[in-house]
Amino acid sequence: MPGDNATFEPVSEWSTYPPVEETIRSDSTLGWLKRISPVVLTHRWRIFWSVIAAVIAMVAQILVPRVVGLAIDRALITGTSSLWLFVAILLVLGVARAAATFGYRYGLYGMAFKVEYQLRTLLFQHLGKLSFAFFDRVQSGQIISRANSDIRSVQMFMAFAPIMAVQFFSFVVAIGLMAAISVPLTTITMIALPGVFAIGQRLRKIMFPLSWVIQSRQAEIATVVDESVNGVRVVKAFAAERHQIESLAIGAQRLRWANLVQHWTRASHTPFIENLPRVALATVLLVGGLQTIDGSLTVGDLVSFNLYILLLQAPFRFIGMLLILGQRAKASAERIYEILDEPPAVDDRHDAVDLIPSGGGISFSDVSFAYGKEAVGGSQGSENAPLVLEHFNLDVSPGETIAIVGRTGSGKSTIARLLMRFYELQGGKISLDGNDIRSVTQASLRSAISLVPDEPFLFSTSVHENISYGKPNASRAEVEAAARAAQAHEFIVELEDGYDTVVGERGYDLSGGQRQRISLARLFLSDPSVIILDDSTSAIDVEIEERIHGSLKELLRKRTTIVIAHRLSTIALADRVVLVNDGQVIADGTHQQLLDTEPRYVETLAASLGENDSW
Ligand SMILES: Nc1ncnc2c1ncn2[C@@H]1O[C@H](COP(=O)(O)OP(=O)(O)OP(=O)(O)O)[C@@H](O)[C@H]1O
Ligand SMILES: [Mg+2]
Repeated sequence: MPGDNATFEPVSEWSTYPPVEETIRSDSTLGWLKRISPVVLTHRWRIFWSVIAAVIAMVAQILVPRVVGLAIDRALITGTSSLWLFVAILLVLGVARAAATFGYRYGLYGMAFKVEYQLRTLLFQHLGKLSFAFFDRVQSGQIISRANSDIRSVQMFMAFAPIMAVQFFSFVVAIGLMAAISVPLTTITMIALPGVFAIGQRLRKIMFPLSWVIQSRQAEIATVVDESVNGVRVVKAFAAERHQIESLAIGAQRLRWANLVQHWTRASHTPFIENLPRVALATVLLVGGLQTIDGSLTVGDLVSFNLYILLLQAPFRFIGMLLILGQRAKASAERIYEILDEPPAVDDRHDAVDLIPSGGGISFSDVSFAYGKEAVGGSQGSENAPLVLEHFNLDVSPGETIAIVGRTGSGKSTIARLLMRFYELQGGKISLDGNDIRSVTQASLRSAISLVPDEPFLFSTSVHENISYGKPNASRAEVEAAARAAQAHEFIVELEDGYDTVVGERGYDLSGGQRQRISLARLFLSDPSVIILDDSTSAIDVEIEERIHGSLKELLRKRTTIVIAHRLSTIALADRVVLVNDGQVIADGTHQQLLDTEPRYVETLAASLGENDSW
């Protein structure tokens, strides 16, 4: 019964999954790494130990050339030490390096995947707060690609960056050890560095915009794929497969071009970064070789030195990769932040309280509204969007059932969406039981109202789960009773697995009328104070609709109900009919009164009956 649910309990309270608490820094002028630092730093200890392990691995690696050099000089040439000693040291270094490498790889990849998980959850949590105005505007392919490939590239950077930092450290240590052997030779080794640095800088400058272009082209393709798959029925009906393939091919070409430019850039820069140091290797061999011949350098030292130069190749190779990964991660992070920075156009006020419904009286007073013109926080709204509702007034008493009638596009569904506070008003006020809907929490407001939309949406789960979506702990008996009330039980038991049948994508393996009945069954499981039926039975034939009305009447009793209807049979459920036109109520009375006194009502009915007849 309405009013019984004095303590409000949203569906999400039943979820046991913990939300991600930490979030990125809101100051958008900060660099991308600074902004994400609160998330990354939740793993500070893991990062700390991993870096320690990486340092151990690097040190173990760096000591090898020195040990080999000493072995040659002391054990082979002068014979002052035992060869076994050096072999044992090398073995210990090898084992230490293997263990430490396992440690840092496991630690860093684990951290990177955790950051990926956190970012994805954060993004999803934020999407949950964003209003319909955002989803009306942004293509789902854009959102999907940000949640997938963009998060992926940030994750890759997170795993690699610390390894690169340690590589850099090993570079510095190796230079130190080399200088201990021969300062002139070390100086020769470094001649390539300024060149490598300059090329690296150039690469970085080109890569950032390119990465951005590539990521956004991937998103374009995701949008085409998303629309081709979701719109496959329209595509096939118009035999427009070739057209869709063409759209995809154009997108894929554009992506190919961007990728090619990226690889061309990479291919023309990284060989220099990687191979300039090899010039140094040759020079070192020449100069060092001459020094060894004239006796000022030992053979062991020359071997150590060359091994070091080989070791240095790895950091050089990584510089190119790090630059590319870094630029891509930066572009991706900024695309993710774009969504995270989007303020929710509809937000709970800080002093919002939970609505405690009592009867369900509704009042629209002087409401003005236009789509795409958000009153709060919306930056994208167009200034001259036409008003869908203009100084709209409507009062519905608690327990009353009214029908809203109007031509298509007259704003009937909009009235329902505004009552649910899916959009913010431009003017006026809507209240439920005397509470301005802006003063209560969205979750409590929406749980007090059940909206059965004209286009039912089914999830790809079982029929049972679809019906119990708003009440996940409902028993099979409750679900069955709801399905019976919505006249859905009979067809459900004939499905392959009855209530456990998993419906296809969006329920497209059911008929439109069957989907509507499952969607109506959700209503019978809920206990709202206000019910809105937005053309909810339009695809159900009149005979079955009549039977549904039998159970609906029971449910609607004592609850405030708004039915949006084209059919006379649905209008008959209502105590009062409201005729809407041009964003205003133009007539209000019983069906009979309007029939007798309002020619525009008769016209509208005739027009919509005509529409239905043509079905
Ligand atoms: N998400 C949206 N963004 C922008 N404009 C919208 C949006 N939804 C509806 N509109 C516009 O608002 C107006 C009212 O739409 P609404 O859906 O309320 O009509 P309706 O009376 O429910 O029509 P129908 O009987 O066909 O369902 C229409 O002109 C429509 O083009
Ligand atoms: Mg509508």
